[in-house]
Amino acid sequence: MRQQDIENLVLWYQKNKRDLPWRHTKDAYKIWISEIMLQQTRVEAVKRYYEVFLKSLPTVYDLAQVSDDELLKLWEGLGYYSRARNLKKCACELVRSYQGVLPDDEKELLSLPGIGEYTAGAILSIAYLKPVPAIDGNVMRVLSRVYEDERDMLNSQVRKEYSEILRKFIKKYPPDDFTQSFIELGAVVCVPNGTPLCEECPLKRCCKAHRHHKEFLYPVKSAKKPRKIISKTVFVFEYCGRYSILKKEEGLLSGTYEFPNVDEKMCQDDVKKYLAQQGCSFSKIVFLGEFKHIFSHLEWHMNAYVISLQKPFKDYLYVGLEEIKMNYSIPSAFQKILEKI
Ligand code: ADE
Repeated sequence: MRQQDIENLVLWYQKNKRDLPWRHTKDAYKIWISEIMLQQTRVEAVKRYYEVFLKSLPTVYDLAQVSDDELLKLWEGLGYYSRARNLKKCACELVRSYQGVLPDDEKELLSLPGIGEYTAGAILSIAYLKPVPAIDGNVMRVLSRVYEDERDMLNSQVRKEYSEILRKFIKKYPPDDFTQSFIELGAVVCVPNGTPLCEECPLKRCCKAHRHHKEFLYPVKSAKKPRKIISKTVFVFEYCGRYSILKKEEGLLSGTYEFPNVDEKMCQDDVKKYLAQQGCSFSKIVFLGEFKHIFSHLEWHMNAYVISLQKPFKDYLYVGLEEIKMNYSIPSAFQKILEKI
């Protein structure tokens, strides 16, 4: 990659960039929120969440003060809820130690909760116009093809080398356009699934994989571990037209609300026996169906039952359906069950 190639790329970006909401601001708070949302989520899905989130929490002070319940409701459906919890932690730290302003120093940014090298680079280059690159999966893919890099892209040495290369180039360009030009190219031209649009690519002259017609072979990824399958039974207890939910206090999805469940798949007879053992008195059990939810590293295979109670069972919250939907953060895994009740 030479100066001229980067020049082509940045010009291509300036001419072809998508009109995205976070590209209309230089407010570091807004750019930070967008970059955290974009890390594990598609641009199209992020657009809506970004607008609603910033309407509810327009400043870092609002984020620092929001209740966990309200915050996770705003995040409902986006997944990877630790991102939201870290956003609030970080906002509290910004209010406590940084007068409510994201610092424009790489070391200080990296010391904050939830801010890693990618996010620090994105905030610095896009919001503060500092010459610090940001390397996400899009950028890794572009560079692995340009260099026909045989190494595993999860290898941290590779990222370090790419960062050093980009640090040299970024000094000569507007940092915001430089960073986003690589991300944009990876998102719309040098795509991960399907055929990359090499004929439209501003880097086609320097791309080794393209020259050898081997763009499909890159990036090289080590075989992923298969996802662990967890079987579950989900109990939707109904009492006087309200349904049982409880707050997940730790682990995966902590802070969100779930239907009571156990890590074992039960048939209706098993459920009856189990509930009798638990001292639960019920008048009816209805099988709601089988549900599957795929997380990045595991799959839940669930049997769900609606159980009409004669008296409330355990100290769950009993809440009307509309209120659950309005006020409680129900992760996608349980959303499908909620929709079917
Ligand atoms: N993905 C990560 N950061 C992005 C940005 N600023 N624009 C579009 N997609 C992105």
